[in-house]
Amino acid sequence: MKLTTRVLPDKGHVINLYPLYITVLGLGAFTVLRILHQLFCVLLQTFLLPGTSLTNFGSHEGAWAVVTGCTDGIGKEFARQLGKAGFNLLLVARDVERLSSTAQEIELMYGIKTHIHTINFGKASVNEYTELTETLERHDIGVLVNNVGTSWRFSRFTETPREKISDMIQINVNATVQVTHAVLPGMVKRKRGLVLNVGSFSGAFPIPMLAAYSSTKAFLANFTSALAEEVRSDNVMVEYLNAYYVVTKLSGIRRPSVFIPTTKIYVQSVLSKIGLPCGSAYSGRLNASSPYWPHALLDLMLTFFCKVYPSAAMVMISGTTQPGLELGGVMGGKAELDCWCLTPEIKTHNEMQ
Ligand SMILES: *[C@@H]1O[C@H](CO)[C@@H](O)[C@H](O)[C@H]1NC(C)=O
Ligand SMILES: *[C@@H]1O[C@H](CO)[C@@H](O)[C@H](O)[C@H]1NC(C)=O
Ligand SMILES: *[C@@H]1O[C@H](CO)[C@@H](O)[C@H](O)[C@H]1NC(C)=O
Repeated sequence: MKLTTRVLPDKGHVINLYPLYITVLGLGAFTVLRILHQLFCVLLQTFLLPGTSLTNFGSHEGAWAVVTGCTDGIGKEFARQLGKAGFNLLLVARDVERLSSTAQEIELMYGIKTHIHTINFGKASVNEYTELTETLERHDIGVLVNNVGTSWRFSRFTETPREKISDMIQINVNATVQVTHAVLPGMVKRKRGLVLNVGSFSGAFPIPMLAAYSSTKAFLANFTSALAEEVRSDNVMVEYLNAYYVVTKLSGIRRPSVFIPTTKIYVQSVLSKIGLPCGSAYSGRLNASSPYWPHALLDLMLTFFCKVYPSAAMVMISGTTQPGLELGGVMGGKAELDCWCLTPEIKTHNEMQ
């Protein structure tokens, strides 16, 4: 009997299975081609295509870049590299001494103008936001980096101090929303601007033991997509940075590795790929970007994995975040809080405040 025909036992007649095989083969080929096409696009964006140039946002023409939470970590590096690219810098953070030394350092290095504004986003009053808004409105702002953020260690929501939850919402969400609301009208009027919202891959799925933190980042991802569409026709770009681990001075990880770049390398990759989603191209999160190449490949993999096994992804993540659950092994090692999880990146955020 040939492979493409089959004798039905009861009826005794032969049916033709050829169309079935062709269909299955066709679908299989289509799926493979689709995956290859997606991989190709991600590689193209990540390794070859240049991002939008910073000169489109007014560098060397007197435009200012605003970075919140800029006294350390990723924020400080953004300030440095935007200064180097020819923006004047309006630096916003809570510690006046570290703020002025950061400003001085960069001013000397690149001969640009700097201005500092202190505010504690965790406790900022309406008046303090009004003052910040007035400062922001006085400047021609080309780039805004909403970098300030905070987190709290892995713990059940019921065991997380309410004050820490409030900090996460006020700093990660409210500060970003308020500062963006202050800066965006000017960008729209001038018909140029770039807003970068520093996010985290922990915003891509709900994460038990990090319920509040991961939800604030999910908020930022959705906020970014919606806003990007609103201001697209005004030549203003809004992008969510889907950050994975990055090395910082105080983070648990000091030695950079392929998957854990220094802030310098991370920020370089971001600024050279503006407007390209790279690894997040098929994540379903519009205007999210994973530009650092190992993170791009990781995010692409995670996207496929989560599409195929959405519930497995959830269980795996709870396994890595809840001590005592064994499933953490799937993603590397035991269910230890310090394994593949978010600790270094969270520490980065803590520093940046
Ligand atoms: C955001 O912060 C402002 C200023 O403190 C405050 O008035 C407002 O209630 C906050 N919004 C939310 C949603 O917490
Ligand atoms: C945002 O996403 C849309 C849809 O993919 C794209 O057309 C647009 O260029 C993106 N904007 C930025 C700033 O990445
Ligand atoms: C909105 O957030 C959810 C959770 O992170 C995400 O799955 C979804 O893709 C987001 N949508 C957009 C348009 O970013």
